[in-house]
Order: sequence, then C-alpha cells, then structure tokens
Amino acid sequence: MASSLGVRVQSLLVFSTFLFLSLSSLSNSQHTTSFRPKALVLPIIKDASALQYLTHINQRTPRVPVKVVVDLGGQYLWVDCEQGYASSTYRPARCGSAQCSLAMKTLGCGTCSSTPRPGCNNNTCNLFPDNPINQGAAIAEVASDVVSVQSTDGSNPGASVTAKQFIFSCAPTSLLEGLEKGVKGMAGFGRSKIGLPSQFSTAFSFPRKFAMCLASNGVIFFGDGPYVMQPGIDLSTSLEYTPLLINPISTAAAYVLGDASVEYFIGVKSIKINEKQVPVKKNLLSINSTDGYGGTKISTVNPYTVMETSIYSAFVDVFTKEAKALNISRVAPVAPFGTCFSRKNVGTTRVGAAVPTIDLVLQNEKVIWRIFGANSMVQVKDDVLCLGFVDGGVNPRTSIVLGGHQLEDNLLQFDIATSRLGFSSSLLFIQTTCSNFNFTTKP
Ligand SMILES: *[C@@H]1O[C@H](CO)[C@@H](O)[C@H](O)[C@H]1NC(C)=O
Ligand SMILES: *[C@@H]1O[C@H](CO)[C@@H](O)[C@H](O)[C@H]1NC(C)=O
Ligand SMILES: *[C@@H]1O[C@H](CO)[C@@H](O)[C@H](O)[C@H]1NC(C)=O
Ligand SMILES: *[C@@H]1O[C@H](CO)[C@@H](O)[C@H](O)[C@H]1NC(C)=O
Repeated sequence: MASSLGVRVQSLLVFSTFLFLSLSSLSNSQHTTSFRPKALVLPIIKDASALQYLTHINQRTPRVPVKVVVDLGGQYLWVDCEQGYASSTYRPARCGSAQCSLAMKTLGCGTCSSTPRPGCNNNTCNLFPDNPINQGAAIAEVASDVVSVQSTDGSNPGASVTAKQFIFSCAPTSLLEGLEKGVKGMAGFGRSKIGLPSQFSTAFSFPRKFAMCLASNGVIFFGDGPYVMQPGIDLSTSLEYTPLLINPISTAAAYVLGDASVEYFIGVKSIKINEKQVPVKKNLLSINSTDGYGGTKISTVNPYTVMETSIYSAFVDVFTKEAKALNISRVAPVAPFGTCFSRKNVGTTRVGAAVPTIDLVLQNEKVIWRIFGANSMVQVKDDVLCLGFVDGGVNPRTSIVLGGHQLEDNLLQFDIATSRLGFSSSLLFIQTTCSNFNFTTKP
C-alpha cells in the first residue's frame, strides 16, 4: 500500500510544488505567553486493555482536554475534527501560508463542498495523517489552534503555558478506527518540523529535545533536564548515548516520494544473551538506503518488540538454551507470544524475573542497552512467564521494532538537534520507576 500511495502522491507533488518556494520560519508567528518555560511536562497513562499510551492535550477556546495516543514516530498531532470540534481560535492554514510551508510537502490545496467547519474550508493545504494502529490514512486540512501545557522545573509541574498557533491536522472521524473509546487522535513525536517536540521548542525557545518515561502512569518532558523522579533522582545525569539514525525512506502509511522517515532508528550492531552472540544476518540490522528496509526503530504503538522471523528464531534459541542452563523450562506458548516458560525455578531480582539478560550492542561493544527480566518477560498466568517479543514475519519493513514493554521504566531522551538518544537502562536498579514523577503542582 505504501509504495502505490507513494506513487500517487508523487503526481500530486507536481501541483503543490509552488508551496515550497517560500520557506519562511514560523517562529515569529507563534505567539506565546510572556512567561518563558525551560521545559514542559505531560502525563502518560497506559490503557490496560489496548496497551496504548495515552495523554491529554489541552486545546481550543474554550480549552478542552483532548485524549490522544502517544505515537513516538508519528509526524504531528492529528485530531478528529468531524465530531465535537468547537473553538473560537481554530484557524485553517491557507494555501501558501507559512504554516503550509512548515508542514512541508503537503498534498496541495483543497476545497470543500459542504458548509465550512473545522476540517472543511476552501483554499487550505492538506496533509496525509496516518494511524499506524489500524494502518489507516486520510487527506486532512492543516490548521492551527491554541494548545496549553504545564511547564516544569523538572521536579513538579508549574504554571500552564500556551502556544497560540499550534499546527495540527484536522482528520475525519474514520481515522480513529481501532483506537480506544474516548480517544480523539494521535500525538506524533517524530522529528518532523511540526512534530510536538519541534513545535514546543520553537514556541518556547528551548532545546529541540524531549524525554519519555513510559509506565502505567508515566511522563514526557519537553526540553532539557533535570528530569527528577521521587525520591529526588535526576535521571538526566546518568544517561548513555547512541546516535539516532535517519531512514532516508519514509515509513509513514502514505508519503511524498523523497521524504525521509521521521521515526527514531538506532544502530543495533548485534544482540547478545548472557554474553552469547545471537547469530543474525548483518544486512537485516542496517537500513538499506535504497528501499528503507531493515534496521531498528523505537515505537510506542507496538506493545512488544517485533523481530523479523530469522532474528526472532535465533533469539529464542539462544534465550531458551541459556534459560535451560538455569533449569527454566519451556511450556506451551500463550498468544501473542511464541515462547513461554514455567515460573518454577525463576528467581526474583530488583529488575524483575531472574532470566538471561539481553544486550543490544550499539555503536561499539561498550555501549549496550541491557534488558532485564522486568522488560523482557510478561507474566501471563501465575506459573507462566512469556518472552515479551513477537515474530514479525519475513521481510518486514523494519527488522526490529522496540516496543512499549521493553521501554517501560527506562528514560529515553531524544535530542533531535544533535540526533542522539540518551538511555538510562532500567530505573528499577536505582530504585525508582517512570511512575514516580511528582505531578503535584508547586504552589
Ligand atoms: C468553496 O467554494 C465553492 C465554490 O465557490 C463553494 O461552493 C463552497 O461552498 C465553498 N466551501 C466552503 C467550505 O467554503
Ligand atoms: C537494498 O535494496 C535494493 C532494492 O530493494 C536491493 O537491490 C539491494 O540488494 C539491497 N541492498 C542490500 C545490501 O541488501
Ligand atoms: C538444575 O537442576 C539439577 C537437577 O535437579 C541440579 O543438579 C542443578 O544444580 C540445577 N542447576 C541450577 C543452575 O539450578
Ligand atoms: C510533591 O510535590 C509537592 C509540591 O512541591 C510536595 O508538597 C510533596 O511533598 C511532594 N511529594 C512527595 C511524595 O515528595
């Protein structure tokens, strides 16, 4: 689907090229409140049944909390405008405006034949928002409206601040299909110019960085640290770093040919389990710059890490062998997992079940993302633990997609400006969790 849409979209590009001729920065038009925050904070709640990470964006006039799915690799904010969108500060982005230029490679200009409403205006530019959970995509008006977020000193939330012209895409209700009831859209944290991190850093003039700490009650920080979890631990001071890689071929459901992916890829060079090498075909671990296949990305819309079939089976073989050496035996699998173990003989540690450790070896042998039991195993029954990784089939677009369960209780800092990922490893080691941010506002 992606490639055929890619071709279709390319022909539209011809008509919309004129939009890209005047590239002016939007920083001057994004008026903000006079108090200039150094960082912002958003709470994240995990939906226990859908395993989606949700947050609230306070948008519109009068302001309403809009419940959206956190999509780390998403391009921008999109919300359902067809139902219940009422706001006196809604502004469609007019063709040729700075907002359309910033949204880059929009799908040209649109008209709408029914009565004007948010999402249906003449002479506005369009984007192609997608929903990676149901693989849906739509053509939708680009617009801006007021968005308010709480500032933070890194320890508690502070005063609420407002971005007056926050750009988003005004989608049809059908794009919500597959999302939980009450969810009104998706918040894209990808590296595009209109991704949430870039828009907030432009609006409030702080570094183009954000940090994500997933848990059942997690937190996202925009801007630089400190990122303090109770009891008073600043996580920004104990990060290891690895380069963020750019996949030159878009991974969105629909895109304009020539667009790079806005998702966050990292360079996993090898995988080890209890220091034993997992045999993996090397070309699967790198991004093929011709077709964009391969490599490793980080995702919040996949609840568990997904691996290409040959990687998954080699991984399971080594893990099972190492588990056997600890007298941990395999039992019948429980879906969606393919590999489960008896809880018998499995000890407990501060970082979860005492199972073989999994190492993602990054730019060199010294830079390792180590995954312990709390992030590798999922307890599905009293006496059954499953390896929380799933088989992604043969020839998937991306060989390894690191999913939510593997990211929880780890702080990840995405520095877009320097293209660098900071990662903490399990916070359970230092006796805190991603649920430990103090959300009580300081007086
Ligand atoms: C757009 O323009 C057409 C032609 O002038 C008009 O019929 C239509 O009502 C307009 N739609 C909106 C939403 O303003
Ligand atoms: C990269 O992709 C192209 C096009 O699909 C293919 O011809 C080429 O063999 C691939 N390169 C590698 C190293 O796999
Ligand atoms: C595994 O079980 C065998 C037989 O019960 C025992 O001899 C051995 O010490 C056990 N190994 C470990 C690592 O617990
Ligand atoms: C959370 O922050 C509030 C406001 O600063 C403070 O009064 C409270 O003691 C903090 N809670 C904990 C558990 O530290």
